[in-house]
Amino acid sequence: MGYVITVAQQKGGSGKTTLAVNLAVGFAKAGKSVALMDTDPQGSAGRWFMARLEAQGGEPDIDFSTASAWGVTYEVRKLADAHDIVIIDTPPKADSDLRPALRASDLVLVPVATSHLDLWAVEVVLYLAGRERKPAQIVMTRNRPGTRLAAEVAEKARELEAEVAEASLANRVVYAETLGQGRAALEAPKGPAHAEVTALVAEVQAILDQL
Ligand SMILES: Nc1ncnc2c1ncn2[C@@H]1O[C@H](COP(=O)(O)OP(=O)(O)OP(=O)(O)O)[C@@H](O)[C@H]1O
Ligand SMILES: [Mg+2]
Repeated sequence: MGYVITVAQQKGGSGKTTLAVNLAVGFAKAGKSVALMDTDPQGSAGRWFMARLEAQGGEPDIDFSTASAWGVTYEVRKLADAHDIVIIDTPPKADSDLRPALRASDLVLVPVATSHLDLWAVEVVLYLAGRERKPAQIVMTRNRPGTRLAAEVAEKARELEAEVAEASLANRVVYAETLGQGRAALEAPKGPAHAEVTALVAEVQAILDQL
C-alpha cells in the first residue's frame, strides 16, 4: 500500500493545489509512482492535470482521479494499491465532507500562506485531523522570508498543535506560472523554487518513513 497525503486548509487560496501538484511532481521526479486526486468541485487540480496531458502528450507520468465526499474512500484504496504516493487536494472547507479524505490519509499537510488569516483557519483542520488520529504538518507557503510578518506567523504556527515543516514555499511567480501550464516549479528552469520543493519532498518522505 502506498502512502496517502491529504492537503487541507479551510482558508481559500492558501496554496493547497499549488502544494499538491508540486509535491506530486516532486515525488514523481524522485522515482515514486504518484497519483493525484481532486476532491474539490472547483476542479483546479483536474484542470492542471488536463493542461499537463495536453502539453506532454503520450503516457501521463502522474495518475489522476476525482471523487467527491464518500466516494473518496474507495477511490483512494484503489489508488494506494497501485501507487507509492497518493496526494489528495481538497476544497477550502473544513466540514464532514473532509472526513473520508482525512480518514484515508497517513499524513495531513496544512498550507499556511504567510498571513494571520490563514493561521486562524488552521485550528479547525488540526482538530478534524486529530479526531481521526492523523498526524498533521503545517507547511508555510507564499512565504516572504526575512519579513517581520513571516517571523510572526511562523512563531504563532509553532504554538499550534502541529509540527511546522522546516521547508517552505516562498511567494514566487514560478509557482503560479507553472500551475497554469500544467507543470510544476521543478519543471521550470532551475531557480530557488527547485531547492524549496526538493527539500519539502525529502522532509515529507522522512516523515512517511517514520510512520
Ligand atoms: N508559493 C506561491 N507563490 C506564488 N503564488 C502562489 C503560491 N502558492 C499559491 N500561489 C497562487 O495563489 C493562488 C491560490 O493558490 P492555490 O490555488 O494553490 O490555493 P488553494 O488553497 O488551492 O485555493 P482554493 O482554496 O481556492 O482551492 C493561485 O493563484 C496560485 O497561483
Ligand atoms: Mg485549490
